[in-house]
Amino acid sequence: MRTVLVLNGPNLSRLGSREPDVYGTASIDDLAAACAATAAELELAVDFRQTDDEAELLAWVHEAADLRMPIVLNPAAFTHYSYALRDALAMRTAPLVEVHLSNPAAREAFRHTSVVAAVADGTVAGFGFLSYQLALRAVAALAAAADA
Ligand code: DQA
Repeated sequence: MRTVLVLNGPNLSRLGSREPDVYGTASIDDLAAACAATAAELELAVDFRQTDDEAELLAWVHEAADLRMPIVLNPAAFTHYSYALRDALAMRTAPLVEVHLSNPAAREAFRHTSVVAAVADGTVAGFGFLSYQLALRAVAALAAAADA
């Protein structure tokens, strides 16, 4: 069974208590469970991780490149300024979908730039947990197309 890395950047461990008007009241454990349920439907396995540490996130992206693992990534605030993350993702060897719970385009100006979007296959934003579930569907389709 193919494993998809679902990677989450800084402050996403705080889901549920963090700005609930923006991010909702469900926790990151709820998000992990929603991803696992969608992955099971798609006959994928998920390896769900979160970190506040840019170096740790880069190490996971390197690991994915070495193992040819697809990534669903919510880079959180790193989206908007981490060229190091962008460069790491540019080395990818499998599908990459960027996700956001909120719609950054409808928020503050600094959120309108994603430095990682150009190295992803695509971006899903604004649908809460559904953003991740749609991204997993996209990864499944991309991986199947690559296998065909
Ligand atoms: C976010 C949007 C980012 O702008 C923000 O810094 C986050 C979460 C989202 O999922 O909506 O931490 O990536």
